[in-house]
Amino acid sequence: MLDLLIIGSGISALCAANRAREIGIKNISIYTKYNPTSSLSCMAQGGINASISNQDDNFDIHIKDTLKASKGLADSKAVSYMCSNAKDAIEWLENIGVSFSKDDNGDFIQRKMAGSTFARTCYAEDFTGLFILNALYQRAIKNEINIYSENFLLNFITKNKKITGATFLDHKDSKVKSVYAKATIVATGGYCGLYSVTTNPQSTSGDGVSAALRAGVKLSNMEFVQFHPTLLKNSKLLVSESARGIGGKIVDKNGKEIVDALATRDEVSRAIFYDIEKGNRAFLDLRGVDKDKINHHLPRDKKMIFKYQSVDISSSLVEIIPAAHYSLGGIDVDIDSKSSVEGLYAIGECANTSVHGANRLGANSLLEGVVFGRKVANCISEYIKNVEDIEKSDEAKDSIFIDDIFKYYNQISFYDRKKRLIALMYKYSGIIKDEISLRALLRNIKQIQSELILMGIEDKSKNYNQNLIDFLEFTNMLSLAETIVVCSLNRQESRGVHFRSDYSETEDKFLKKSTIVRLDEKLNYSLE
Ligand code: FUM
Repeated sequence: MLDLLIIGSGISALCAANRAREIGIKNISIYTKYNPTSSLSCMAQGGINASISNQDDNFDIHIKDTLKASKGLADSKAVSYMCSNAKDAIEWLENIGVSFSKDDNGDFIQRKMAGSTFARTCYAEDFTGLFILNALYQRAIKNEINIYSENFLLNFITKNKKITGATFLDHKDSKVKSVYAKATIVATGGYCGLYSVTTNPQSTSGDGVSAALRAGVKLSNMEFVQFHPTLLKNSKLLVSESARGIGGKIVDKNGKEIVDALATRDEVSRAIFYDIEKGNRAFLDLRGVDKDKINHHLPRDKKMIFKYQSVDISSSLVEIIPAAHYSLGGIDVDIDSKSSVEGLYAIGECANTSVHGANRLGANSLLEGVVFGRKVANCISEYIKNVEDIEKSDEAKDSIFIDDIFKYYNQISFYDRKKRLIALMYKYSGIIKDEISLRALLRNIKQIQSELILMGIEDKSKNYNQNLIDFLEFTNMLSLAETIVVCSLNRQESRGVHFRSDYSETEDKFLKKSTIVRLDEKLNYSLE
């Protein structure tokens, strides 16, 4: 039995693992769907926030900016903790080998993200997430953390109302294994793969959030999904918000500005979405920006844009589209990352730590991952001191479930249904929502759920069966789609990234987080 099981291998997971080892937790293992180097964290380009170089800036202003963006739904204690530990987090990252961009005096260079009073984002060109992940991974290897790659989370194991580990499907042979632990951290990322247009890989299926829902763990603010205005059209490539920070404009095909490029992401995304709905196209215009600035801030983006759209960003417009980028909701946790069920902790994008509320400032997510990833290890080292040996239970039901999938008839292609689901989610539960569309979407989701029994896998091989993994991801997406739509229907107001065209005002009576929990097969919704 483990002291600590960590599920996921992105930045928050690796911070927790390293910290846990360094404060003396012995028996730690990471189980992860793919492997650390393919984690979504390495795609985070923009940077990580900390008031560090500018004498006029301080963490109180960072707190105020974060709370203002949250539109009243962030927890001020959690935000204060995050922002006041930001400088420490950056210094620690630097100590473990992250080379941030610096000026000739050796000071951090910082860039400005929308909604921030000052330029406060530390970065490493446009490779920040990748550099941080590399440093953390190397440290995890030095710290002899066991990492079991290619293990798909099936379910949490629950005994006497406590979570005592999890079951996994091993991609290698499709066998199910049970892993018991005194404490379990879930850090499996968000659920933006539920949208057909997303900056995330489509496999970002909210597996941990969905497993939590099945285990009766409380989720919160599921309706809040942040859209990023500048996905390179017809690709999965995000053009960093820093492109707008250095002077990029959002324009139509004639170069006329559509919206203030430095407005918050939700405002910019909405303006572009409305324009595209009218049949127009939207572009990022970097033609007026100094070439040296582009080379310094956006070396990767510049190359990628050339590769995918065959245009030089210094002389041509770049076609963009808003895309689902970040899940603000997730497993509801307190400031110690504790979920509503004992034994389970959640960090990173799969958690709602209440630091973003209804809107997230660019570059606050890497910060959240690092700060709370380190903090949770301290909490767990106290918690496990009082945990007795875990009683093992019989987890045969998950093996039976997997065997059954191999036996299902494959009368309806789940790939077709997934394509329909994610297209409908983008159109009707995305940047702009309304009651009629949400209700129609919910009926579609229920219809697809009722057809699940007729779906199966074509590939019956047991080794590295991607068809099986895709199917399991699809079932997770389907259950989370329902929670997102139910929460979106119930929030009859507009706040931050949740915009209802039929309730366009913000209402005081909704100044609460929404929670949803599955009990006796039913979803129970409330505002807290
Ligand atoms: O645009 C960006 O660089 C994204 C940053 C973020 O989402 O934090």
